Amino acid sequence: MVETRDANEEIWRSDEGISHWVSTAAQRERSRAEHRAVLTELLPVADGEEFCFLDLGAGTGAASRAVLDRYPGARGVLADYSPQMIGQGRRELAGYEGRYRYVEADLTRAGWPPELDGAGDRPSVVISSLAVHHLPDQRKEELFGEILHHLPPGGWFLDYDPVAPPDAVVEEAWLRAGDRRDPEAAAKRANRSPEEQRRYDNHVRHIASLDLQLGYLRSAGFEGVDVYWKQLDHAIFGGRRPLV
Ligand SMILES: C[S@@+](CC[C@H](N)C(=O)[O-])C[C@H]1O[C@@H](n2cnc3c(N)ncnc32)[C@H](O)[C@@H]1O
Repeated sequence: MVETRDANEEIWRSDEGISHWVSTAAQRERSRAEHRAVLTELLPVADGEEFCFLDLGAGTGAASRAVLDRYPGARGVLADYSPQMIGQGRRELAGYEGRYRYVEADLTRAGWPPELDGAGDRPSVVISSLAVHHLPDQRKEELFGEILHHLPPGGWFLDYDPVAPPDAVVEEAWLRAGDRRDPEAAAKRANRSPEEQRRYDNHVRHIASLDLQLGYLRSAGFEGVDVYWKQLDHAIFGGRRPLV
């Protein structure tokens, strides 16, 4: 049978696909809390300031929640293409009513989703977390350009994502350190079920190196492009739209 649906869609736009994500989220979030805090600390806003941010590939809102908790004046536009993740996110964000809205948008489509404009929102900050790595490189490059174009002068884009190793030596070092932190990691890697292998293959298939993505940001026109935080294969990187 010819497969008509993309593997990424099969995973993210199905009840079965997201049930695993949701059931393992609490454990993952414990180790990510510190990373998410770094992202919020990087935002160029004063503590009580009112501002709007856009979260691309927001999922159930883990990154958005960190921003909403840190900044009482923040309002979020959460974009995702999975009705299932959005539904779960609405349940998890029940305590934030009035401070966020979800928008269903497919980031693989060329061009800025028109749904992201409107409702009077002009995000001064765009964040993304663990989502851009699902896009092919050409689309990453285009998207960074679209983000720059839609930010106001001085507006920031920050992405928290896995990155590909630049070479085999680095990859080996990342694995070594990862395996020391999680003594079960090597066995898990060697004994993936077909479903786990499918999820893993989808996870890694478009992961790109930091250098490539920093280059995309620079050629889009961002300034202050940097890797603001990094731990093995995960990084927070981004920059701002120039003031003039
Ligand atoms: C690994 S989850 C991360 C969710 C959330 N940002 C977080 O940090 O927990 C990836 C998210 O990206 C979304 N996603 C994947 N491909 C997408 C696309 N083409 N357009 C919009 N969202 C997409 C998925 O639906 C999912 O919610």
